[in-house]
Amino acid sequence: MSNESIQLKINTEYVHDPRLGEHRLSEDQLREFAPRVASVLAEISAERKAGKHRFRELPHERPQLDEIKRLAAELRDGAENLLVLGIGGSALGNIALQSALNAPTWNLLHHAERNAPRLFVLDNIDPVGFEAVMRMVQYDWPRTVVNVISKSGETAETSAQFLIVRDRMIKTMGEEEAVQRIIVTTDAAKGTMRGLIDAECKRLGIPTAYRSLAVPDGVGGRFSVLSPVGLFSAAMCNIDVDRLLDGAAAMDTAVSDPDPMTNPAAKLAMIYFLYMQRGKPLHVMMPYSQQLKDMADWYRQLWAESLGKIRPADGQNVGPTPIKALGATDQHSQVQLYREGPNDKVFAFLEVDEFDEDSVIPQAFEGQEAMTYLGRSTEGTLGGLLAAEKHATELALLVSKRPSLTINFPVVNANTVGEFIYLWESVVPIMGKLLGIDPYDQPAVELGKKLTFHFMGRVGFEKMPAEME
Ligand code: PA5
Repeated sequence: MSNESIQLKINTEYVHDPRLGEHRLSEDQLREFAPRVASVLAEISAERKAGKHRFRELPHERPQLDEIKRLAAELRDGAENLLVLGIGGSALGNIALQSALNAPTWNLLHHAERNAPRLFVLDNIDPVGFEAVMRMVQYDWPRTVVNVISKSGETAETSAQFLIVRDRMIKTMGEEEAVQRIIVTTDAAKGTMRGLIDAECKRLGIPTAYRSLAVPDGVGGRFSVLSPVGLFSAAMCNIDVDRLLDGAAAMDTAVSDPDPMTNPAAKLAMIYFLYMQRGKPLHVMMPYSQQLKDMADWYRQLWAESLGKIRPADGQNVGPTPIKALGATDQHSQVQLYREGPNDKVFAFLEVDEFDEDSVIPQAFEGQEAMTYLGRSTEGTLGGLLAAEKHATELALLVSKRPSLTINFPVVNANTVGEFIYLWESVVPIMGKLLGIDPYDQPAVELGKKLTFHFMGRVGFEKMPAEME
């Protein structure tokens, strides 16, 4: 399947291949199911016009993009470190953008090569990990920018990190200097963080204290990477945020197609949903690209938190389990299970045609065929070997009657990454409707948050365990 307006290609050949036997999904079976999905698409389109599915508007409305670019241009030059404090949807997109679009060694590069700060996304409260990053920045607080991201402004992990970091900054350079290096991304009007920074700005009377960006209304954490949540750290690290949004906008054209057979989001939803009905609720995303590894992590949250729910209509527990794997590394770790374990999985490979760089494998040790073929092959580069291994794995899975599809990136750049993000976000509400659940809430996460408040002694949450009973 391809679509003129987009660069990504989705290949579903190994979903339809007759060699899959009873595990095959034919084009006819998809066509049979398509009318139901067509009505889901029509429903989503009408709801969108009525102001729902707000994430769909981000590439067009581009909220606060000028402010993001202006802030990044102002702060980038003098900054050696950018600390992002956030968790879940307030961190995973930032990490995924950075690893897809900047060098894996970004933080080790000389500043002259980066021309931008090192990026540390603190998305956990493990004290050893946290203090290790603190040691990296402790002599450099005046050259450190902090971006605290919390839509609710209530999340214990992010608040705790914020309190520690703010305190250390104030102790090192004084409050007046510290607060000008803290950018807060939170709800435009509601929540503790918003109230707090408004009050602090008033108290301090410094116009550039706690400058803030807004999480757009109606856009939940895991759908917010293309908003100020993901774009500020990206812009700080020289990622082309315009092209990212251009890619997403192009994908919007493709996923607005009312025909499920040509709409890439609808086609993915049909494949996954029909396979779930046939006992395949495990969805493995396996990039054959180190750059896209954290995109699979981002997808894992999007898929799990959006789709794992109790269905209100019948009280059933529904939802797929997303799994991330990495090619070729996990061929030597997971593929044994994938081929011979339960046939309960659908595989999505991410494949790259042209890597930014490639390494030629030299031909040596004549007479030692187990060595020489690597350099002799016309595919004799690491990229060529990776492509061969991906093809080998999909065929090996096919032999074991395991269906797979491939999302092909001609190149990994801001455009194609924008397309990829928007594509998967758009599959989610279609899946939500097919499963009969609301993909935008996360009630099961909230209980754990509230119990944490209780165990940490927050006033107002004294009776939590009793209420739970
Ligand atoms: O996707 C989501 O809604 C969640 O993963 C949140 O992003 C996460 O819980 C953090 O919430 P907040 O941004 O309110 O701190």
